[in-house]
Amino acid sequence: MKDGFGREINYIRISLTDRCNLRCVYCMPDGVRLVPREEILREDEIALIVRALAQLGICHVKITGGEPLVRSCCRGLIRQIRGIDGIQTVTLTTNGILLPERIDWLKESGIDGVNISLDTTDPKRYAQITGGGDVSKAIDAVHACVKAGIRTKINAVTMRTDNEDLLAFAKDEPVDVRFIEMMPIGYGKQFRPVDNRKVLEEIMRVHPGTEPDLSLHGPGPAVYYRIPGYQGSAGFISAIHGKFCGSCNRIRLTSMGFLKTCLCYDEGTDLREIVRDPKLSDADRCGKIREAAGAAILHKPAAHCFDEPGEITERHLMASIGG
Ligand code: 5AD
Ligand code: SF4
Repeated sequence: MKDGFGREINYIRISLTDRCNLRCVYCMPDGVRLVPREEILREDEIALIVRALAQLGICHVKITGGEPLVRSCCRGLIRQIRGIDGIQTVTLTTNGILLPERIDWLKESGIDGVNISLDTTDPKRYAQITGGGDVSKAIDAVHACVKAGIRTKINAVTMRTDNEDLLAFAKDEPVDVRFIEMMPIGYGKQFRPVDNRKVLEEIMRVHPGTEPDLSLHGPGPAVYYRIPGYQGSAGFISAIHGKFCGSCNRIRLTSMGFLKTCLCYDEGTDLREIVRDPKLSDADRCGKIREAAGAAILHKPAAHCFDEPGEITERHLMASIGG
């Protein structure tokens, strides 16, 4: 469906959990507040919500976290969602640490793509950034996905201009390496975002002949460039220095069932109370979810306000919002 500004909303990011097995400095250096299990949506509840949203035109689903692979329902959920009428793609964003041991079922699940968060390949720096993570596991995850024939992308929060170590993944395999400008959400506020344009300049300096890649890489806001001799592309998600709100197509569902309409504000609607209303049948729940979500989408804010930090009303960590 279209929102109040005529933008087609067809993509949802679903956070399965706020929890994570890493402690990234810009995300949750001290972990997250533990919420009682019953506060978190169950697999069948998430599937019901997706069924209702698919009827509103949502066709792309991203499973995210926290770290989605720490929840055992991840496997069943991917399968269920892939089977829902109208859903065209289901993809996963993960830090990859648990991925190698789950690669068999992931491949079988028919997942349409996996994004692995990896900011550096340097073991020491990776451990510093992630609060002790083992970079070899994340690197193994990239190779395991590629080997399994899953479309693989690397997500790196932009922290410096020289990223040749990450770009090396794109050389011989069709892996896109994407640079995400640090956003002032949660602990991200403490960092000065590195400008993605500087990263592109450096790539062009090292790789003359790098040019825009206009082919479609997915339903997101990344802008891609092709590097001569490389199979994968370099992608830029530049929320700060390349605001893309005018073409935003997404909504977000938190692990507690709140449907968020913009990263920057705490606006949206609680779907958990509908999905858990004991007086309703599943068909009624679907109808009510459509109604509530449709109204929220109509009021989706025009744009984020990262340039006016005082206006940010989102108080949650990135892990609760699902990135
Ligand atoms: N700004 C930008 N990206 C962030 N991520 C986590 N916190 C932030 C932030 N403040 C990234 C993760 C992951 C993706 C889901 O979001 O590194 O790649
Ligand atoms: Fe975990 Fe991702 Fe947050 Fe790092 S950024 S702590 S990997 S959820």
